[in-house]
Amino acid sequence: MKRMNSLDVIPFVDLKAQYSSIKEEIDEALQRVIASAEFIGGSYVSKFEEEFAAYVGVKHCVGVGNGTDGLYIALKAVGVGVGDEVIVPANTFIGTAEAVSLTGARVVFADCDPKTYTVTVDTVSKVITSKTRAIVPVHLYGNPAPIIELCEFAEKNNLFVIEDAAQAHGAMYKGAHIGSFGDAAVFSFYPGKNLGAYGDAGCIVTNNDEIAKYARMYSNHGRIKKYDHEFEGVNSRLDGIQAAVLSVKLKYLPQWTEKRRWLARKYSQLLSELPVVLPVETTGGMHVYHLFVIRLKNRDIVKEKLAEMGIKTGVHYPVALPNLKAYEYLKGGNACPVSELFSREILSLPMYPELAESQLARVCESLETIINEIYG
Ligand SMILES: Cc1ncc(COP(=O)(O)O)c(C=O)c1O
Repeated sequence: MKRMNSLDVIPFVDLKAQYSSIKEEIDEALQRVIASAEFIGGSYVSKFEEEFAAYVGVKHCVGVGNGTDGLYIALKAVGVGVGDEVIVPANTFIGTAEAVSLTGARVVFADCDPKTYTVTVDTVSKVITSKTRAIVPVHLYGNPAPIIELCEFAEKNNLFVIEDAAQAHGAMYKGAHIGSFGDAAVFSFYPGKNLGAYGDAGCIVTNNDEIAKYARMYSNHGRIKKYDHEFEGVNSRLDGIQAAVLSVKLKYLPQWTEKRRWLARKYSQLLSELPVVLPVETTGGMHVYHLFVIRLKNRDIVKEKLAEMGIKTGVHYPVALPNLKAYEYLKGGNACPVSELFSREILSLPMYPELAESQLARVCESLETIINEIYG
């Protein structure tokens, strides 16, 4: 086999390349925060919160420590707790479900739509009970869930909607930003996200003054003023350094999103003749391709062979949540056959704004070679 040098490797994400492209601005921003010593709270956090609320088109943005905490705090803010059920997708990152369990409520899994991979009114309505209190639709891979329809369904059934927008910065549905539809929405700024910090970070966005006030207090030990604690909360705050990094990056998000969409079109063109299922954008939605996920037979063999050819890929997610050991205690609960089947077939290809067209072409050529070899 041909020996590879490190230049031949196509990483799954390339955060170093992104840093290089904005190095001066980032370094300067970091220096400013350090010199001002505004590490917790302060002007950099307020500035980013204002900018991000304006970007999403909502009244409030409350910075928190990470996306999982954000979901937990948003669920607490709408009163979810012991005795309640909350519907989450079977195909998502465990953080979505963990947030529900943290409140004391019971996780109920909804299957995904076979075309768009998100939950829909159809899949959610199959698992609703008299105990259901909220739905947490995930805009999975950056593809909007049909959020207007889900909010209408929730309203009819007296449920709260907390959007999990951890993978969907900049995504839109029928002309408005994802994050502006539910009672609240949560973004993760984990470094690899479309808008990523340089450590853990997240936020809750909402148009509801009460939710915003509760979230701000709960995430800061139940207080607004120092030592004036109205209730017990947690310590989950956005810090100044992360906020300053996010403010720099937010300016680039629209152009990075365009590039992701362009790369997705290229992938779809070059892979159109292969026996793989390509991503489908939700009708009325604008997908931001946090991940470019295809489906194919013999996924594990293909993944391994791609790795041998220097192409790193991912699987999001290899086990549907109901099948994880963590949720064994729910056994006998709801089956999610589509998510379970897809977890064995999905493959995430390299996707980031800095991915060169030549690299993308090499991913597609390698995939074609492997598929021809396997299928004969
Ligand atoms: C869909 C989804 N929900 C929740 C989370 C949790 O976010 P965080 O890692 O910031 O806690 C993530 C991120 O990994 C995610 O992808």
